[in-house]
Formats: sequence, C-alpha cells, structure tokens
Amino acid sequence: MEHVLSSAQFGKEDLGDLFERADYFKKHNAEPRDEATRHLGRSLCTLFYQPSTRTRLSFEAAGGRLGMSIISTENAADFSSAIKGESIEDTIKIVNGYAHLIVIRHPEAGSAARAAEASEIPVINAGDGGNEHPTQALLDTYTIREKAGRTGNLDVAIGGDLLYGRTVRSLVDIMSRVYEGNTFTFIAPDDLQISPDIEMALRGRDIPYRKTSSLEDGLDGADVVYWTRLQAENIQDVYKKQRILAAIASGDFILDKKALGYMPASAIILHPLPRVGEINPEIDGYPQAQYFKQAHNGLPVRQAVIDRLLSNHAEIA
Ligand code: CP
Repeated sequence: MEHVLSSAQFGKEDLGDLFERADYFKKHNAEPRDEATRHLGRSLCTLFYQPSTRTRLSFEAAGGRLGMSIISTENAADFSSAIKGESIEDTIKIVNGYAHLIVIRHPEAGSAARAAEASEIPVINAGDGGNEHPTQALLDTYTIREKAGRTGNLDVAIGGDLLYGRTVRSLVDIMSRVYEGNTFTFIAPDDLQISPDIEMALRGRDIPYRKTSSLEDGLDGADVVYWTRLQAENIQDVYKKQRILAAIASGDFILDKKALGYMPASAIILHPLPRVGEINPEIDGYPQAQYFKQAHNGLPVRQAVIDRLLSNHAEIA
C-alpha cells in the first residue's frame, strides 16, 4: 500500500493486521519506549486546506509518538502558496523534498488522489470534499470492534446528514463490503438521505437496508448508532439549507435521553465529531456514549497507518 486514499483499499486481512498493530500502540502508548524512536529522523507534513481538530492533531500526535518531526500548515488555503495560485501538484512536489509522508485535507473531491499522483512519498487522504475520509472509517470500525465486540452481524443505524458527510460514505463501504451480516438503517430528513450511489452499492451486495425519518423507528434494535452533524459548509443551495436547518431544529434528529430509550441498552453511540447540537451533552455520561473514546482511538489507529505506510515504502524502509 503506497497511499491511503479510499476505504476501498482495505480488505479483511489488511484491517485485521492494522487493528492488531493499533492494539499494540494503544497498549504501549502510556509507556514510551522503542516505538518513540521507530521513525526518528523522518518528517510528517500535515497539509490542511480545511479546519480540523481531531484528524490533524491525532496525526501529528501519532507521528510524534513514532519519533517523527512534524511540519504543518493548518490553514493551507490562506497560509500556503495556494493563495498565490500554486497548484496542489506543485505544492506536493515541494513538500516531497521536506517530508517522508503527507497527510492532506482539501475541500475538493479527488484532491488527495491528485496529490498522490504528483507524490513520490506516501499521501494519506484526511478528507477530500464530500468524497471520503478513510482513516476516520478505520478508527470508527476499530471502535466498533472494541466496543461492540465484533464487526459483523450488527444492526447499524446511521443518522443525521447522510448526503454531505464523507465519513458515512467510507464507513458504509467498510461495514458492508468487508464484514458479513451487517444491516443498515439510515435515519435522516428526506433532503439529507443517503446518496443513490451508496444505495446502489448496498443493493449490488445484497445488503439489507432501510430508510426512515423517524428516530423511534430507526433506533429500534440498533447495535451501533452512528450520528453525524449537518455539513452546512457543503450545501450551496440557500433554500435547501434553510429547509434542512428547520428540520434539524425541530429536534427530530437529536440524540438525547428520550432517544436513548428507543435503542437497546447495549447499543453504542458513535459520532465522528465535532457535534453541533445533534447529540445532547446530557447523555455523555451514559455507557452508550462512546464518541470521545472513538476520537481518542484516532491516535493508535493513525500510528498503525503511518507505521504501515513507512514500512511498506521501499525508498523509506
Ligand atoms: N472527525 C473529524 O474529521 O474531525 P476533525 O474535522 O476535527 O478532524
């Protein structure tokens, strides 16, 4: 594996190996030892053209835990030479001279693939527009494995903004393609329901799924509840945005104490975060609420991804 651009690159064996490696890092992160120098002398560049808290900081922390130095531009759209009109390709070629691995977030779908095309060092897609966020799907699946105790035969309820959110696209791919027996319930207002291409992929795999706009109906029987925020920044149509905001504001899509009553007590609630009102903090202390632990799993999972890419890369290993 040269780059990480899409969840589609990962099969069952890959994920098993990666998660075992993440288990190792998670177990040993509290006591820095050999791993702290594993990639000493190498540099990680985080090139973020969109805001981020978790992805950028966990990648930088992961690189640091492996001994790497970090070079970063957290607002590349304004503070890199992109503002002067430099192309992604030229920026990547320059960074190739300074770093051993690039993590890129960019508002355009396909931008990470363009970056990889221009790069001789590994590139990781940290979110390209509404397209994909593959390492988020890896840490989501890792958390499901850890907290639900399995990755197959699960009733997965996915709610919120299913149309504009890139994390949903990557997660549904992995949970429907790689693991057997999973079924899906998509809970959203009509304007935000799952996109036709994801439905087509599920139908092509004979995966049972249903769509609903009712929280009570959708959460019934769920083993995993995966919630998402409205990606308002990705909606250009002003009228559509107002209609959606009104639907969300109605409270029909907010996970709160009442919503906890609709799902089994054993369900786990995940969210890629940030949340902006769609999960009431009143449920944060309940055992179902696993979203902060999920975000923390970004560290060992991203350590495992970095370690794999650098170890695989012939010119670097
Ligand atoms: N989950 C996620 O991608 O969060 P950030 O935007 O903070 O990186």
